[in-house]
Amino acid sequence: MEAYLVDWLHLLIRFLHVLTAIAWIGASFYFVWLDNSLEKPPQWKIDKGIKGDLWAVHGGGFYEVAKYQNTPEQLPKTLHWFKWEAYSTWLTGMALLIVVFYVGAQSYLIDSTKADLTSWQAIGIGVGSLLAGFAVYEGACRTPLIKHNLAFGLVMLALVTFMAWALSQVLGDRAAYIHVGALIGTCMAGNVFNTIMPSQRVMVEAAAKGETPDPYYGNKAKLRSTHNNYATIPVLFIMLSNHFPMTYGHEYGWLILGALALVGAWARHFFNLRHHGKVKPMIIVSALVAFFAIAFIAMPSNVLSSGKSADLQAGTQASALPRVTDVQALNIVGQHCTACHSATPTDDIFKVSPGGVMFDNLDQIKAMKDRILARAVHTHDMPFMNKTGMTEEEREVLGRWLEQ
Ligand code: HEC
Repeated sequence: MEAYLVDWLHLLIRFLHVLTAIAWIGASFYFVWLDNSLEKPPQWKIDKGIKGDLWAVHGGGFYEVAKYQNTPEQLPKTLHWFKWEAYSTWLTGMALLIVVFYVGAQSYLIDSTKADLTSWQAIGIGVGSLLAGFAVYEGACRTPLIKHNLAFGLVMLALVTFMAWALSQVLGDRAAYIHVGALIGTCMAGNVFNTIMPSQRVMVEAAAKGETPDPYYGNKAKLRSTHNNYATIPVLFIMLSNHFPMTYGHEYGWLILGALALVGAWARHFFNLRHHGKVKPMIIVSALVAFFAIAFIAMPSNVLSSGKSADLQAGTQASALPRVTDVQALNIVGQHCTACHSATPTDDIFKVSPGGVMFDNLDQIKAMKDRILARAVHTHDMPFMNKTGMTEEEREVLGRWLEQ
């Protein structure tokens, strides 16, 4: 009953998290596009202090948007701020982290083959990594490095990759990935809360007094907003990677994370240039090439060899290795998978077959062939946290049987 309700809570929070993130990133993309697409306005607008304007047609109406060089002559009665998208994305993200990874620490956070932690120790490492990472980012923003965009970006990328490595030494692979994503998200929401909003408050106060605000504040907010902009694609990649064991479950999962983050930021660069009218399709092409290069470089050796042995067997030449019998395969699955994946699970935590996946008979197992290969043979993602202690040899035998 409790696990059942937690699942529904999980569904609700995950839905809200995705929804708010769409609103946040959508608004962020819109404003970056808007800012980059402004054109020189007619003289009468320049006289009013407008530095750029833009016309758009959307949803059956014409829009005219103008950006002021400094402050408008008079502050409007209603001034829209954009902050709750960011805050609610962060809050729902934290709630999701707690409901899935912290409440379920024993199954989702701790990997006893890496470190035999108690739930509280593992949660402490997770929360500590967020606090420490955020402090390092804020600290770096106060050094002269911040003036050099590219160098700053590369140092941050190195830190993110390091964090992925460090966390993957002590926490479950998925938990390590999700914490890196949560850290970037925390820095992004922190930028809104700590820098962008306060700077804008100073600007609005100055405008209300009819003064020209110090450009320092506007520039500072703009820079942090640029950081957020480049972080959007990497953070989405990391969040989605949790559904793809060939990323987080890879021996060098932390390196794959760093590489995907780099490709994501690079792809974002294409759009930022394009808004300025500089269309560089090679950026997108090279990002796609890099994406598939990562896929090839990271390909586990048994993905290649399993394809080969299937080819061999399809021909007349028999494979050198003995055939695996159905009974052998059933035994392995019975020993390592059906504790959770059964109509009647016996696991202490998973009382309902996870994802509705059941391996109670040969047909059920064969129907899931590709997914079993992906999660238990090509990667070590299943059994979940290797709770049932599946060996390398058993994976190889199961893989051979599935390919027969
Ligand atoms: C301790 C419990 C547990 C054991 C043991 C276990 N799994 Fe899973 N399995 C899970 C959970 C939890 C999920 C759902 C979350 C997810 O997809 O990672 C899952 C999901 C799956 C999925 C569906 C997701 C997809 O990729 O389509 C497959 C396939 C799978 N497991 C295969 C296996 C195989 C094969 C074994 C045995 C070698 C195994 N599992 C052993 C807990 C377990």
